[in-house]
Amino acid sequence: MKAALYDRYGPAREVLRVEDVERPEPGPGEVRVRVEFSGVNPTDWKSRSGATPRPIDVFQIPHHDGAGVIDAVGAGVDPGRHGQRVWLWLAAGGRRWGTAAEWTVVPEGLAIPLPDGASAELGASLGVPAVTAHRCLFADGPFDGKSVLVAGGAGAVGHFAIELAKRAGARVVTTVSGPEKADLAAKAGADLVVNYRQPGAADQIRSFAGAAGVDHVVEVALGANLQLDLAVIAPGARIVCYAAEPADPVLPVRACMNANVVMRFVLLYGVPADALGQAARDVSAALADGALTELPVTLFPLDQIAAAQEAVEAGAVGKVLVVMPG
Ligand SMILES: NC(=O)c1ccc[n+]([C@@H]2O[C@H](COP(=O)([O-])OP(=O)(O)OC[C@H]3O[C@@H](n4cnc5c(N)ncnc54)[C@H](OP(=O)(O)O)[C@@H]3O)[C@@H](O)[C@H]2O)c1
Repeated sequence: MKAALYDRYGPAREVLRVEDVERPEPGPGEVRVRVEFSGVNPTDWKSRSGATPRPIDVFQIPHHDGAGVIDAVGAGVDPGRHGQRVWLWLAAGGRRWGTAAEWTVVPEGLAIPLPDGASAELGASLGVPAVTAHRCLFADGPFDGKSVLVAGGAGAVGHFAIELAKRAGARVVTTVSGPEKADLAAKAGADLVVNYRQPGAADQIRSFAGAAGVDHVVEVALGANLQLDLAVIAPGARIVCYAAEPADPVLPVRACMNANVVMRFVLLYGVPADALGQAARDVSAALADGALTELPVTLFPLDQIAAAQEAVEAGAVGKVLVVMPG
């Protein structure tokens, strides 16, 4: 099969290549998927570049997310899954068989049925972002009636955080940097979209949240936004941070104490397996309900995988997907 792979860390164009690799067979409890689209996330270029290195087992086919059709099942897997359309998540988590190849093999729980109405492009966009958004929202319990601030609501995680929070009954305000992203965040269903680069952002968020303040923040840039967050949250609110900035923030401890703020940090690779499984089931249910939508998609053929990863590294708006040949 054709597969993109690397066997050392480095810049995309130096280490990523497309080669013929023996097509994998599914082991016990695994399914093999003919991949249609492979979804690219920031973690993929960070792993490949060595910025946040992950062990390489001889070679690494990149990308966790994807969508395709099951064409073989291993021992112990229901043969009825053959031919099922699926979305894939965490395919490359501790395994060499990422989704940037014509076929991948994954434990069957990482291949979730894709409802008839859901496109393969949406399926390939879900995994890392939607599961992360779920964890950032629900790690500490239910949500109905809460007010939520999603920082960066036009990003992939931010997009699904808005949609999952709305589905859970929250009131959602989100921040963006300009009109194109404001449009995307509004389409995702945010009740209020605020440009964080313009003066008055905190006032707008405070008047949305009412006297009590925002109950929960899903935060993509803790250092850049902590002053804003502290200015708008309710006493005892949660700030859940899922991304590291180039420099770690200095924590204003007194201000955090004054707010009695609770901070949580999320890294998908360390989330307990049962919580990940619950997240995947809830994302799947939201998908079946039609509550999750696609961001604009930019497609790259497999032989342009380096350009695809570079686009994500450069902060592409929407989702970057790699299309498999055939
Ligand atoms: N912890 C985990 O397990 C986990 C999982 C998934 C992703 N991540 C990390 O989370 C980050 C985002 O991932 P993604 O896939 O959502 O990327 P993305 O689609 O590129 O979205 C990132 C968004 O953050 C916004 N942003 C940047 N600085 C901001 C600020 N100061 N205030 C508000 N918004 C800001 C960007 O828009 P503007 O710059 O235009 O504002 C952009 O819309 C990446 O660093 C990724 O590695 C971590």
